Amino acid sequence: MRAIPGPADPDFVANEEPARAPVPQPDFQAVVSARYARREILRGGLGLALASLFGGAMPTLARASEQGAAPVPGLLGFTAVPVSRADTAVAPPGYRMQVLLPWGEPITGTYPPFSPDNTGAEQAMQMGAHHDGMHFFPIAGSSREGLLVVNHEYAEPRFMHRAAAGLGLISFDVPLREDGSRDADQVLKEMHAHGVSIVHIRRDDDGQWLPVRDSLNRRITASTPMVFSGPLRGDARLQTAYTPEGTHGRGTLNNCANGFTPWGTYLTCEENWRYYFVREQGELPPSLSRYGVGPLSAWRWHLAAANAGDAADQYARFDATPRADSPQQDYRNEPHAFGWVVEIDPFDPASTPIKRTHLGRFCHEGVVFAPVQEGKPVVLYSGDDSMFEYVYKFVSAKPYHAASASGALLDEGTLYAARFNSDGRGQWLALMPGANGLGPDNGFSTVADVLLNTRGAADAAGATPMDRPEWGAIDPGTGLVYFTLTKNTRRTAEQAEGANPRAGNAMGQIVRWREDGNDHAATTFAWELFALAGDADSGRDLQARPLTAENLFANPDGLWFDADRRLWIQTDISDEDQHKSPYEAMGNNVMLAADPDTGELRRFFTGPLGAEITGCITTPDQTTMFINVQHPGASTSAEDFAAGRLASHWPAGGKSIPRSATVVITREDGGKIGA
Ligand code: FEO
Ligand code: CA
Ligand code: CA
Repeated sequence: MRAIPGPADPDFVANEEPARAPVPQPDFQAVVSARYARREILRGGLGLALASLFGGAMPTLARASEQGAAPVPGLLGFTAVPVSRADTAVAPPGYRMQVLLPWGEPITGTYPPFSPDNTGAEQAMQMGAHHDGMHFFPIAGSSREGLLVVNHEYAEPRFMHRAAAGLGLISFDVPLREDGSRDADQVLKEMHAHGVSIVHIRRDDDGQWLPVRDSLNRRITASTPMVFSGPLRGDARLQTAYTPEGTHGRGTLNNCANGFTPWGTYLTCEENWRYYFVREQGELPPSLSRYGVGPLSAWRWHLAAANAGDAADQYARFDATPRADSPQQDYRNEPHAFGWVVEIDPFDPASTPIKRTHLGRFCHEGVVFAPVQEGKPVVLYSGDDSMFEYVYKFVSAKPYHAASASGALLDEGTLYAARFNSDGRGQWLALMPGANGLGPDNGFSTVADVLLNTRGAADAAGATPMDRPEWGAIDPGTGLVYFTLTKNTRRTAEQAEGANPRAGNAMGQIVRWREDGNDHAATTFAWELFALAGDADSGRDLQARPLTAENLFANPDGLWFDADRRLWIQTDISDEDQHKSPYEAMGNNVMLAADPDTGELRRFFTGPLGAEITGCITTPDQTTMFINVQHPGASTSAEDFAAGRLASHWPAGGKSIPRSATVVITREDGGKIGA
């Protein structure tokens, strides 16, 4: 961990989510069968333990043929890419790559060209920074034309501002003025680099994808007006000077992974939002303390208020300190406006994004829907990406009907948190007042109480603290649900069991489960590990085979199934950890594909220096894949930055500033990606 100079939050380091001690689980994993006992891992070696975790060497849950799905022969049809330590993107032989829509590319308004001197106002007309989750919405079913909707998780201020040149800044630090305040336009530019971009794109006859200047193109930022729906709408705890009624708010933050609904809308998920806020004094309600809001802000946007003529409080709102007589006169409740899943209609540029509060408030990584069935509830899954946090699912109260389905289905239902027992079984614990120990005695009298402090409710219900739940994906053939658990170096030997079997877990794992009766609304399930990330020593595939040069990986994060049942896995070794112990063997971050039946894994793509790989979607015909390269060059040290030595110049090369971007992947023969 490295300290950030100035009044920043020292917990805020590259991709290192806030730590907390795990909540004691009185009956957590009381059932520990000998088959899963941790001492077997210690005594018998990892391979033996994995074989035992998997019930022998064979998978127990996924047999596509038993589910009526025909396995695709030769699911992985490409040559593995080797470990890379180069400042470039690499795809298998026979594949083409094109960089599309890098940070700063003009997409709307007056289309201001990218320049290091762009203003905050200009940034709002350009692609945001740090591309993350993403979806392709075909226009009229086309595989040559559609809307690309891209999350912008955060930004790297030192690469954004001329004033940062020559300063010894690390990737997350910000330039301060001599009086300790922040420059208002720098802050505005950072705010506008966050959020979501919606861009009409089209493939030309040469196979190149290009942005189209279209009135559908849109930027959604940390300033865009939004409304709340669901149980928190109108709640007193959402009231601020901006919304005395507690019904609306401004902006979305730290838009990490995403989802898309069966009714054609986009979902963007708010992950590490707490780093934007400061609370200097005043009692902290659990809805702030359980999320780590406190006296230090990493972004320090509130420090622009003093010199900005901040009439609309657009900067002051990030100071959540009670400063007036009532919550309707200050921004003590502004952190309650974040941590949600936000629904956006990409085809209506005038639509107001909606924060769907019934999906819970936490550090949402992404959202994945189970396949919908007419007349059955809608079910979706979401992970809370911090160490020792939980996996959740939401089951709608009302049934899905294709003709009338809308986001209103997300406003009524039940939110559950997962308990993974060590015997391979699991339960979904309803987070409802009156159930699973939740009630007035522990602060959960209403559904709104539960949702505002979802983490606290899951603690009380006895959910299983996980190794940082990231993306989920659902096998279209078997219905099995997969989740990446990226790492948890703070897990102790005493805490290492079940779905989180390794102490000091630096590598991460992938877990999968089958809901009982193959019913996604079921409240019980059976789980197993799909893979343990690592190298030949520490990594194992589904059949407990050591990982090799063709499939080693660490810190699984992005996860997506294509229509042929290839499971795409993307890694996020933190920029400050790349190429260092214990990750030397991994090189740069990678995307792999997996066969869910055999457990075969193969490296498909490697990114440039300092970057993570995230976001994955194809056109309907699967001949074009879009992925994102996020934060190239973030591994540049403060000393090197001050000296003008950047770790990456991707994608433009030369002496250019590194820029996150989408990479378009196609095949020279026009075939399906991965086949
Ligand atoms: Fe934003 Fe958990 O990655
Ligand atoms: Ca992620
Ligand atoms: Ca991540």
